[in-house]
Amino acid sequence: MSVVKSSLPEADLKLVGEALQGALVDLLDLSLVAKQVHWNIVGPRFRSVHLQLDEVVTTARQHSDTVAERAAAIGVTPDGRAATVAAQSAIGTVPSGWIKDTDAVRTLVDALSAVVVRMRERIRATDQPDPITQDILIGLTADLEKHAWMFQAESG
Ligand SMILES: [Fe+2]
Repeated sequence: MSVVKSSLPEADLKLVGEALQGALVDLLDLSLVAKQVHWNIVGPRFRSVHLQLDEVVTTARQHSDTVAERAAAIGVTPDGRAATVAAQSAIGTVPSGWIKDTDAVRTLVDALSAVVVRMRERIRATDQPDPITQDILIGLTADLEKHAWMFQAESG
């Protein structure tokens, strides 16, 4: 069933749809991972990292909504189901239980780096077929790279 008529030709739509779906999954998992660490962090830097993690959650949630709605707008149904996120995320599983502040920072550096690598691939892939989607991906990747910088600076 195709309810929303797409402004893109079929071949481009497939490519752009995959880029948006992949971005959605990574952003949803990033928001979950950042919350998991936000709740479980322990150590002398608890307060600052705990608060910093919620800034990542806010970024990831806002952009996940933008990305999902861009997909819908071009006629691709976004899939944000838990099973889909678990199967397709770029981010490795975070261990259960308390997490030391230093490990929390490293976890976020790794997660953000993994997501940024895949976002940059999506930026390249969408350049020709859909500069509007590419623009969204560029904007959100700038925000992710800013978070990645701040967590890296914490381990300097
Ligand atoms: Fe909280």
